[in-house]
Amino acid sequence: MSRIAYVNGRYLPLRDASVNVEDRGYQFADGVYEVCEVWHGRLVDERRHLDRLDRSLSELSIARPMSRAALALVLREVVRRNGVREGMVYLQVTRGVARRDHPFPPPDTPPSMIVTARRTDRAAQEALARQGVAVITVPENRWPRVDIKSVSLLPNVLAKQQAREAGAREAWFVDPDGYVTEGASTNAWIVTPGGALVTRPADSGILRGITRTVALEVAADLGFTVEERPFTVAEALAADEAFISAATTVVMPVVRIDRRTIGKGTPGPVAQALRLKFHDFSEVV
Ligand code: PDD
Repeated sequence: MSRIAYVNGRYLPLRDASVNVEDRGYQFADGVYEVCEVWHGRLVDERRHLDRLDRSLSELSIARPMSRAALALVLREVVRRNGVREGMVYLQVTRGVARRDHPFPPPDTPPSMIVTARRTDRAAQEALARQGVAVITVPENRWPRVDIKSVSLLPNVLAKQQAREAGAREAWFVDPDGYVTEGASTNAWIVTPGGALVTRPADSGILRGITRTVALEVAADLGFTVEERPFTVAEALAADEAFISAATTVVMPVVRIDRRTIGKGTPGPVAQALRLKFHDFSEVV
């Protein structure tokens, strides 16, 4: 089945799906995005993802391209046309097409919207989760508004590439005070030797991950102690467990940080429990 993309009102084969060279997303990274997990053919936590999209758009004064109901229909249609049962759907909205000029274009410039979907290999993901992944740490070098899910991801791209070249899956940004903020495309967590789950508060320095929000609910239900506070790299290295969370990985155990083994060097019980229970708590529609 050839892949289909939605581009500004049309469903097109991926090879014909293109945007104008003067799209502000292309020229200025002037846009926002969302990634939603597709699980058993259904969207996971769509309501929360669309709420966050609304917030990102409003923080950047970009108009919503269509009603929420229409948006939900397009997401489903792209998932359906691509025959995705297990995978993800990607949605991007930019400030539209205009002659290249830094200030906003005229207010009647329609925003651009694209949607793509793709399959993921669930068995490979599960195998990875049984093994755990490695992360490296890199200095935080992003702008302060990482709470906005902007497509301006160059520091994230460079950090992720550095991780790949070091044989790791993810890079954790570390702020000037030595505290971990988050991963290049995931939120960061540890479990202390005392058994407390620790993750940075979502009020500064991180994206408020939807997976993070749901994982906090799972943790509360399972009776785990949760501390929403920053943690240092030293504390992470001494932790019993570490893991990352995102729509693309759900909860993924971390077994090495900067080549140092975490805990027993195998996925820990807390991360495994959160992963196992996750879809009981997410909204699947
Ligand atoms: N990334 N932090 C950053 C910087 C992210 O890019 C993401 C998601 C997250 C986790 O958010 P959520 O749980 O809502 O997926 C945290 C997506 C998946 C991506 O860029 O592909």
